[in-house]
Amino acid sequence: MHLLRRLPPILCALLAQALAFVGLVVLARLGLRFPGFVWVLAQAVGAVFLSRALELNVRWILMQALLPFLLRALWGVAIPAWVYFGLFLALALVFGGGMLTRVPLYHASRDAWVKLETLLPDRPGLRFVDLGCGFGGPLAHLAQARPDGRFVGVEASPFTWLVAWLRCLPRPNVFIRLGSLWRADLAAFDVVYAFLSPVPMPALWAKVRREMKPGSRFISHSFEVPGETPHCIIPVKGRNGARLLVWDF
Ligand SMILES: C[S@@+](CC[C@H](N)C(=O)[O-])C[C@H]1O[C@@H](n2cnc3c(N)ncnc32)[C@H](O)[C@@H]1O
Repeated sequence: MHLLRRLPPILCALLAQALAFVGLVVLARLGLRFPGFVWVLAQAVGAVFLSRALELNVRWILMQALLPFLLRALWGVAIPAWVYFGLFLALALVFGGGMLTRVPLYHASRDAWVKLETLLPDRPGLRFVDLGCGFGGPLAHLAQARPDGRFVGVEASPFTWLVAWLRCLPRPNVFIRLGSLWRADLAAFDVVYAFLSPVPMPALWAKVRREMKPGSRFISHSFEVPGETPHCIIPVKGRNGARLLVWDF
């Protein structure tokens, strides 16, 4: 259960719906017969129950409750093919980078932003990069807190990049780049921050060690570097086990 809770919320949500559905199939096989509406309600209740067990937040639980009713309402409605294509395109633009790199889109909490702020060096003109900046929440917060710093975000998914770019437009000290974090030169930064997944951590650590200069700081949100002990660990609000792991070079 602990491992399941560490899955991205979208996977937990799908798992909850799938398990609830399996439960209904078992009931039907046992010979139970109900009106269609009761089956839909049972699917929603089962999915909500399992979502709570997987510690999904209130927004997800609400969506989980509504999804079976939405599907039932759309059942049999002739939806034009372009709608499916449009949905696919939108999903690819938001999550495409993450699907290719196996790093999904989820966000650090406001508490993490505030604790990141305390980890910035005091010297004016500091340079900070968020590798995989998502919608740019941490960058927008830090740039406002430290107008003397220069904050760079690198994001691989085009739509996500656009949202971050628009969000940070009012902040003259933020620069949001569309592209791969693997092409960023880390030597240019005093603080490198990443909230990715366990998959790229060994390769990212090799890049960090190769490129980051003495006196700089690497911060990983939640994900460890195998075999490397951080200099300090700061728990933050968010998903189970959320924390900032800090290495000083
Ligand atoms: C977990 S989100 C982190 C968002 C933000 N940094 C935060 O702390 O709230 C990870 C982001 O990294 C992006 N990403 C994944 N692989 C990437 C890559 N190779 N280059 C750039 N961005 C990448 C994903 O598209 C996603 O938006």
